[in-house]
Amino acid sequence: MTPCRVLSQCSLFKLNLVKLKLTIIGLGYLGATTAVAFAKLGHEVIGIDPDTSKIELLKQGKLPFYEPGLDSALVEVVEAGNISFSTEHTSTSSSADIHMICVGTPQGPDGSSADTKYLYSALDSLIPFLDEDAVIVGKSTVPVGTAAQIRNYLEAKLSFTPHIAWNPEFLREGTALKDTLEPDRIVIGVDDSWSEKLLRLLYKDITDTGVPFISCDIPTSELVKVAANSFLATKISFINAIAEVAEVAGADTVKLAEAIGYDERIGNKFLRNGIGFGGGCLPKDIRAFMARANELGVGHSVAFLNEVEAINLRRRARVLEIAQEELGDLSNRRVAILGAAFKPETDDIRDSPAIAVAEQFWMAGAHVVVHDPKALNNVRRAFPQIETQPTLELAVSNADLVVVATEWNEYREAKPAELAKLVANRLVIDGRNTLDASLWQQASWQIIALGRNLERIPVLV
Ligand code: UDX
Repeated sequence: MTPCRVLSQCSLFKLNLVKLKLTIIGLGYLGATTAVAFAKLGHEVIGIDPDTSKIELLKQGKLPFYEPGLDSALVEVVEAGNISFSTEHTSTSSSADIHMICVGTPQGPDGSSADTKYLYSALDSLIPFLDEDAVIVGKSTVPVGTAAQIRNYLEAKLSFTPHIAWNPEFLREGTALKDTLEPDRIVIGVDDSWSEKLLRLLYKDITDTGVPFISCDIPTSELVKVAANSFLATKISFINAIAEVAEVAGADTVKLAEAIGYDERIGNKFLRNGIGFGGGCLPKDIRAFMARANELGVGHSVAFLNEVEAINLRRRARVLEIAQEELGDLSNRRVAILGAAFKPETDDIRDSPAIAVAEQFWMAGAHVVVHDPKALNNVRRAFPQIETQPTLELAVSNADLVVVATEWNEYREAKPAELAKLVANRLVIDGRNTLDASLWQQASWQIIALGRNLERIPVLV
């Protein structure tokens, strides 16, 4: 037993200021943010990821992806010496109080269930460094029942029963560090008091500010995350379903969302209609949830998520439909797609609705030009066939159609009168309801926004 643990077991909780030693395994968006956040709270963090180039960047205080505010926080904790990075565990991992698993659980080869192979490879590499006192804390989003499977797996390989806990993370890309340091709640799934004590200590600085701390059994904590993401996806598809009706009925979904959002039981968040949800979480999590529910024999209980996904995909396709209604055959029409990231303030293009829209235009024979303030390198790597332009002005030059696919401030703040001079045809489809329609109309653009009948909005002159 290490000296650190002797202290932990005997007197840790009498000392208010004791900080913990953690390994954070997997340094993607979740792991890197979590590692920096805990280092900022003063804990001693060792970040582990097998990707050599990622580790080299992190050691130099550089992030392998764009996340506002995380870059400067990384530099701060590297300089303070609270964090170190390695491609593999070393003997120092043995004295860690907590091993936090933050690896990805991507969609599996069947196209629905979550692939937990990275979870097991993280555990395999950890086994030689485990002892009775260490707590393994899962943060990755997993199918309910995974922690129990992991326990069986480890018990077969170890001579003792390991402490296992689950601690789902609700951070959003774009506001990841703030969401981690100032979360609206902390949820832990535990089945032993040692794990609970360590996790309470880990989060003490945050819970001291009044953040709710929910301690529950492990299956509940696993389910909390997928339930939360399913609810959010459902809320978005709900407003997008209303948008489909509104488009036919000549109603305005944006006004409608404002009107229903004042009802506190409904709330005004996640009611922005448009080309729908994407990213590395919501789409894959609802599919994995349906797959797991099917395995458990309760697939019917979450079958509505099939419709949530169908609505989401229809809204992506609606942009192309509108373009064809307006322009007819799109062959060789120049279409500027503004935005590639799945939402603003990230460079993440995983399952991005904007990319899906760009691909649909490309398949329809259009000459597609994509712009994004942060994600163009990722676009070039993943879709070399699609033309990219480094500025908004270059992207819209000679365009027959402009599509706003990600609601970056740069597009909201663009001057429609200036852009009007560059395009071949003043037609814009606002796929995110982000533009000031009257400004664009004043600059003699034809603007079509999803879920709205803009002809009914009086133009202010
Ligand atoms: C999500 C969850 O919000 C977060 O709690 C969880 O930890 C990880 O998954 P994230 O993937 O970063 O976070 O994105 P989020 O902000 O939820 O947006 C998801 C998608 O929904 C984006 O494509 C966004 O553009 C879209 N969206 C969001 C809408 O279409 N309308 C809305 O009203 C809100």
